[in-house]
Amino acid sequence: MLSSQEAEQARRFIFQKDRNRYVAAHGALRLILGWYAGEPPEKLSFDREANGKPFLQRPAGGNLRYNLSHSGEYVLVAVGGKRRVGVDVESVRTHIDCLKLSRRFFTPAENAWLEARAPENLAEGFFRLWVLKEAFLKALGAGLSVPLSGIDIVIHPDDSVELKHARDRLAGSRWQTVEMKPAAGYPAALVVERGAGTLKAWRLNGWEASEMVWTQTL
Ligand SMILES: CC(C)(COP(=O)(O)OP(=O)(O)OC[C@H]1O[C@@H](n2cnc3c(N)ncnc32)[C@H](O)[C@@H]1OP(=O)(O)O)[C@@H](O)C(=O)NCCC(=O)NCCS
Repeated sequence: MLSSQEAEQARRFIFQKDRNRYVAAHGALRLILGWYAGEPPEKLSFDREANGKPFLQRPAGGNLRYNLSHSGEYVLVAVGGKRRVGVDVESVRTHIDCLKLSRRFFTPAENAWLEARAPENLAEGFFRLWVLKEAFLKALGAGLSVPLSGIDIVIHPDDSVELKHARDRLAGSRWQTVEMKPAAGYPAALVVERGAGTLKAWRLNGWEASEMVWTQTL
């Protein structure tokens, strides 16, 4: 199913497990987008926005925005119809120095929220912020052109999440977030352009079967 460019990209990985994951991720992506577009997966073609965000080329992708993330054994794909989407999934790694990393990557407000966590909840809080921040960056498609300090993830006392963007005062009303746990130890976040609709979460079991695991009204 993969294009010659994707096959070439897969060949560049040094480790077999990374190559396998790339092939599985991009094969699954083609299957999923092919279902929505009503096109054979191998016929789809992709391009990149100026800051690197991949998109499905027209005509198949006329109204099909998507984003992909992988971590460990998992791949998460969001399909947003007309709406821009960003997703991030991470495996929680408890051996890392969360506070050292957060002081490097996170904003003062994010650090203040994290530092108020009990030590046993630090790693969970760190990855929660991480996936939200990354999903927002990926929804914007900004790559590394937006500094990490330019966006703020505000987690309110009632646990609701607000997105702030230094260059867009209306970001909080433009975008909404959905936090997910697709598997134990794998927090994930979706950031999608705000609007009414239903979010449906599917698990792809092998190449043939898929099951809907939950739905949520947006
Ligand atoms: C490349 C980047 C988009 C995400 O990388 P990542 O978190 O390592 O990896 P993920 O698996 O979540 O996402 C990679 C996928 O995002 C997609 N992607 C690539 N560039 C993108 C962009 N500019 N915008 C949105 N999606 C992008 C691609 O589909 C890519 O998968 P592929 O290489 O198999 O095609 C980029 O945002 C980045 O390098 N971020 C690091 C920023 C950072 O330092 N964050 C730390 C704290 S938040």
